[in-house]
Amino acid sequence: MMQKIDNELISRLVGLNVSMYDDAFLNKSVQKRMTDTQSDSSGAYSNLLEQSKEEVTKLVDSLHISYSEFFRNSLTYSVLERIILPSLVQRKKTSGNKQLRIWSAASAAGQEAYSLAMLLEEFNSTYDEKLNYRIFATDQCDVQVNLARQGIYSADALNNLNRRRVKQWFTKQGDSYLVKPELKEHIDYSVFDLFSEQLSTPPASIFGDFDLVVCANLLFYYKPQFQEIIIGKAGNCLADKAYLVVGETERDILRRHNFNEVFPQSGIFQIL
Ligand SMILES: C[S@@+](CC[C@H](N)C(=O)[O-])C[C@H]1O[C@@H](n2cnc3c(N)ncnc32)[C@H](O)[C@@H]1O
Repeated sequence: MMQKIDNELISRLVGLNVSMYDDAFLNKSVQKRMTDTQSDSSGAYSNLLEQSKEEVTKLVDSLHISYSEFFRNSLTYSVLERIILPSLVQRKKTSGNKQLRIWSAASAAGQEAYSLAMLLEEFNSTYDEKLNYRIFATDQCDVQVNLARQGIYSADALNNLNRRRVKQWFTKQGDSYLVKPELKEHIDYSVFDLFSEQLSTPPASIFGDFDLVVCANLLFYYKPQFQEIIIGKAGNCLADKAYLVVGETERDILRRHNFNEVFPQSGIFQIL
């Protein structure tokens, strides 16, 4: 039988408000940790959490709440590269509204923002007239924002990148890889909580009006009422005919909120 642990206890110990988290998602992670630690009751696992910082860290890690990858979901990035970004670039050029504005709204340690910047820089290398673009990379967690700003990754973190991209966009330093300054030039990093009641968009962006918002792989761990707040916030700051990108497992959530997937399975949506 499924044994539940008090959410308040977990919130206090792990320093996250887990009462906002989807029950099934949280219980699955806790049950797995209970099995791995051979805790035979929720009381025994609660005691272990109280006594062991190591176990608290393991539980937080098992939630994968900061996990990210470069070019995570290859289909999404392939559609962005081949269809969405070229059409946005063309739209910018013909409308005279020259700046392409992107918000990576839960950017973790920056992999998402740098993947987008790589695509746009690669576009720019093929055009005489350079596209003016800005990527606002935000996350609620200041540790993650600092990691993104530093742009230092292990070799493992670069697994999804081909050799050409690693060579072109990173400098090797010891065992680590540093993002080159030219990739950082168009990215603005800041802490931003999508549940903020005061702010609708990152202050650095001034007015939102984004052509592309990537809000991927965080909806799934929130309860529906909190998913709705995030989708509302991301949806409200989209420019006309702009796109909202979510994670592979979050596509159904967007469909339930009046969004249309522009290319099957891509996770790339427009408001209906
Ligand atoms: C699993 S990571 C996903 C990172 C990246 N978007 C991706 O798809 O690989 C989820 C990120 O969402 C951030 N996050 C969670 N709740 C948030 C909120 N309310 N506002 C902003 N960021 C949030 C977390 O700090 C974490 O870095």
